[in-house]
Amino acid sequence: MLILGIDTSCDDTAAAVVRDGTEILSNVVASQIQVHHPYGGVVPELASRKHIEWILPVVYDSIDKAGIDPSMLDGVAVTSGPGLIGALLVGLNFARAFAYGRSLPWVGVNHLEGHVAAIFLEEKPPDFPFVALLVSGGHTILYYVTGTEIFELMGQTRDDAAGEAFDKVSKMLGLGYPGGKVIDELSLKGDPTKINFPRAYMNNYRFDFSFSGIKTSVARYLQTHSASFETEIPDIVAGFQEAVIDVLVHKAFGALQERGCNRLVAVGGVAANSALRKRMKAEASRVGVTLHIPAPELCTDNAAMIAAAGYHHLVKGERGALDMDAFSKGSARKMTGC
Ligand code: KG4
Ligand code: ZN
Repeated sequence: MLILGIDTSCDDTAAAVVRDGTEILSNVVASQIQVHHPYGGVVPELASRKHIEWILPVVYDSIDKAGIDPSMLDGVAVTSGPGLIGALLVGLNFARAFAYGRSLPWVGVNHLEGHVAAIFLEEKPPDFPFVALLVSGGHTILYYVTGTEIFELMGQTRDDAAGEAFDKVSKMLGLGYPGGKVIDELSLKGDPTKINFPRAYMNNYRFDFSFSGIKTSVARYLQTHSASFETEIPDIVAGFQEAVIDVLVHKAFGALQERGCNRLVAVGGVAANSALRKRMKAEASRVGVTLHIPAPELCTDNAAMIAAAGYHHLVKGERGALDMDAFSKGSARKMTGC
């Protein structure tokens, strides 16, 4: 079954063709980084406008790269939320019209479910059940996953998402947007033990997270120290990154222990972080856990993951309604877009 996936939830215009929810035939991501970079973050109105401009060429590029004719598609899966509402509506309305015009079945997919489904695009996907740590720009969540669409919420951030903290710290330091990748690279030049930033909720609030305090702590540090780029900034970002990783690893492995589970999945943009991947790998081998993290390009937003998740809904006969709306929030429990 060939599924066209579409994601326009934030600042990437993405389309992909995936066979049977597992095999990527094409995965096109048109990044809007250059558009939003001057503003230090995503400008929703600009994102929507770019999606309108790019959606048609990106979708047809993904079909071309898959080496298929549009008539060979069996269905369409599109992100219906959560995300920026104007941005989501571009993809949702395009997908609906595309499917309707070709009499194809289509389905709305929850972006978070898509992130988790990215793991089924890897060569050796995990068996169920597993604990999934979803760390992105908008979410930090721990799920206990027992089936393709059966997600039990174990914990989530009570304020900022981990990726948001990366982006805000990067902005404070004038390192640009998006911050995660820049901090990841710059941290390699710093000493993560030099500055001790707070690790929130380490021994309380079970599997919930908080990342707003660390952001404030970095801001305070900058007010009281005059950081020079050559010397101190790499130590600041390395110390910040180390603190975030400590919390993520502690909570994720704690969740595994509580469930007596030995399979861990990490997904979402922050799961592309090289230090986090390294630490999780080391911890997993230390405690005998099988770790599954998608390739970095499948951690950050893409449409292959949406096609993979949508496949399971489509084979079950789920269909999107012609009047389906996009949704921006309230998504941690609502796992299907229909
Ligand atoms: O999953 P994603 O592409 O979009 C959302 O659904 O939010 O995640 C984007 C987030 C951004 O906050 C970005 O700074 C972060 O993922 N990110 C990273 C890295 N690459 C992207 N954070 C840390 N290290 C990275 N290498
Ligand atoms: Zn995402």
